[in-house]
Amino acid sequence: MKILITGSSGFIGFHLAKKLLEKGIDICGYDSMNNYYDVGLKKARLNILKKYKNFKFVKNKIENEKILRNTIIKFKPNVIIHLAAQAGVRFSIKNPDTYLHSNVIGTFNIIKICNSIRISHLIIGSSSSVYGANKKFPFQEIDKSDHQVSFYAATKKSTESLAHSYSALWNLPTTVLRFFTVYGPWGRPDMAYFKFTKKILNGKKIDIYNKGKMYRDYTYIDDIIDGILRLIKKPPSLNIKKKIKNDSLSPVAPFRILNIGNTKKIYLLDFINTLEKELGKKIKKNFLPMQKGDVHSTLSDCSLLKKITGYNPKTNYKDGIKKFLNWYSNYYN
Ligand SMILES: NC(=O)c1ccc[n+]([C@@H]2O[C@H](COP(=O)([O-])OP(=O)(O)OC[C@H]3O[C@@H](n4cnc5c(N)ncnc54)[C@H](O)[C@@H]3O)[C@@H](O)[C@H]2O)c1
Repeated sequence: MKILITGSSGFIGFHLAKKLLEKGIDICGYDSMNNYYDVGLKKARLNILKKYKNFKFVKNKIENEKILRNTIIKFKPNVIIHLAAQAGVRFSIKNPDTYLHSNVIGTFNIIKICNSIRISHLIIGSSSSVYGANKKFPFQEIDKSDHQVSFYAATKKSTESLAHSYSALWNLPTTVLRFFTVYGPWGRPDMAYFKFTKKILNGKKIDIYNKGKMYRDYTYIDDIIDGILRLIKKPPSLNIKKKIKNDSLSPVAPFRILNIGNTKKIYLLDFINTLEKELGKKIKKNFLPMQKGDVHSTLSDCSLLKKITGYNPKTNYKDGIKKFLNWYSNYYN
């Protein structure tokens, strides 16, 4: 089997590529190595992947349709896992164009090319942020996702619709995964837990929005990778609706949207208290009102993913934080 992974130098793409390479699968990574956050961290991840003989890499943007098409045609993947995106809610408020280009145009290029070469499964990374102002917890795939509160989330929702239409028109087996706050070693420096750690270690105050009155479904990276691995060889088919009764499955396309989270709510202040305890430092807290673009809380219902693959997230957030801090102290010495 050959798998092309976009965003392979990113947090999730790196872990996924590494795991598949260890299993002997041929991987082609595709990443622009952009400077949205520390390029040194992306290079360090890439250098680890380059040690594997079964890894190839192309540095380019997914908006560059010609290079993307040539790469895919030459590599001939059976499966494409599309994780390249301009991530981050806050950055999208001031830089919407970047999101439109990377997430909407870039994803459209992937879908178009997948269709012209025919692959057995296209997996696309989406986000829990598409649930936006949804107030019904836990979030189920069938729930309303019409009221995004950030431009990032709006671009993610758009790609879900684009992918569904192509799947329906051309019978393209497509799975969209809605990730819930992924954290762990080699994580993203723009995410709150990473920023908090850096600030706490430097004795700086941390900003806590909505006075800490919110919760997140924090999902440890290994559980995410386990869920993706379970899905790769299980592309959706049109008649799956007959086997699995779930109204969120498409009635007209081999297409499905699946939540992938930890299915537990962790209050922000509990998460911060665990960091405080593990780092052995008193945290200086700066309580602020809710930020524009942020959703209040998130919590996943992953029963559909469980039904299809047996997915069962195992990592408790306290163990996950310890593993992250262990990596952080080794990496930053
Ligand atoms: N980490 C999370 O908590 C989380 C939550 C929800 C959704 N997601 C989604 O999961 C996917 C992976 O996220 P991540 O956390 O690994 O992010 P990341 O930023 O670490 O990885 C994305 C990678 O894509 C590359 N990239 C960005 N724009 C590109 C473009 N136009 N062309 C080519 N490469 C490009 C970046 O250089 C980066 O290496 C994204 O689609 C993201 O939106 C992540």
